[in-house]
Amino acid sequence: MRVLILGCGYVGTEAGRQLVAAGHSVVGVCRSAERFEELKSMGLQPEVGDLTRREDLERLPGPFEGVINTVSSSKGGAAEYRSVYLEGTRTVLDWLRSQPLKRYAYTSSTSVYAQTDGSWVDESSPATPAGETGSLLRDTEDLLLDANRERSVPAVILRVAGIYGPGRGFLFQKFLAGEATISGDGSRFINMVHRDDVASALVRLMDPTLAAGIYNCVDDEPLPQGEFLRWAAQSLDRPVPPSAPEPAPGTRKRGVSHKRVSNARLRATGWAPAYPSWRDGYRAWVEAIRAGQPIPAAQLGATEA
Ligand SMILES: NC(=O)c1ccc[n+]([C@@H]2O[C@H](COP(=O)([O-])OP(=O)(O)OC[C@H]3O[C@@H](n4cnc5c(N)ncnc54)[C@H](OP(=O)(O)O)[C@@H]3O)[C@@H](O)[C@H]2O)c1
Repeated sequence: MRVLILGCGYVGTEAGRQLVAAGHSVVGVCRSAERFEELKSMGLQPEVGDLTRREDLERLPGPFEGVINTVSSSKGGAAEYRSVYLEGTRTVLDWLRSQPLKRYAYTSSTSVYAQTDGSWVDESSPATPAGETGSLLRDTEDLLLDANRERSVPAVILRVAGIYGPGRGFLFQKFLAGEATISGDGSRFINMVHRDDVASALVRLMDPTLAAGIYNCVDDEPLPQGEFLRWAAQSLDRPVPPSAPEPAPGTRKRGVSHKRVSNARLRATGWAPAYPSWRDGYRAWVEAIRAGQPIPAAQLGATEA
């Protein structure tokens, strides 16, 4: 397959690397040429482009059978969400009419599930985010679901949990900086997934024989927020962070939820995470710190989903 990756950031670049390793031909789009050498070294063909600009899409060296959209709002607010996710997807969908498309994949977020009762949620659970940014993610999903219904656009939506991996991990980095607090009694569930497993899910979903629609992308072990911090403290012989009141609803961009996200539908495609538990995924980083090795530079973009 010739695959286009829009937004070669933390996840998109790894997805590109895995696709090339699996024998696909991959064009990777960045907003600047700064990372061209890195992408070339992984076998990707780098191109500069902005998905909100139709003329940039027209210039790309297609035709493409697979398109993966992993652009992010770069920590922006509602205006950036609207421009990059909603309007960007609209622009891409329009341009895709000219492509021999077999599969389109878009990375949404498990933050669209606003449940606060600690229940298990799957793709059929209500997804009604309270905040404006969450609603924009849902609107983007709906745009793709409508395009699938009305024009048979073979779109899959990956609802991704809090991403961690080399150099990135929202709560862990707060812990290392001495800024983490246990929320309330620490029992609120959070959900994580390793970057490499998000990438392998995107690769798996390029198979056009799999059903279009929504798939959750999360590891096997939702965990209480306090348990993670107590584990980090114990693993690194550091003090357990203090407790603080739960953040008030509406104080975080992606909301404050309490739910356990199921990956059963994604697993049923044959995908299996290399890091089924965050304990596996953080092992190398913890061991590096214990061995006194330098901590990788923080990567932007992490959220608690
Ligand atoms: N991080 C998390 O914990 C998390 C959780 C749930 C879902 N997600 C979703 O997962 C996806 C991948 O996240 P990530 O962490 O890999 O993001 P990331 O590291 O921030 O990478 C996103 C990439 O998109 C590029 N980009 C932004 N706007 C663009 C535009 N208009 N045109 C073309 N490229 C553009 C950025 O380019 P520049 O380098 O030029 O800025 C960046 O390289 C995103 O859709 C994100 O919303 C993330």
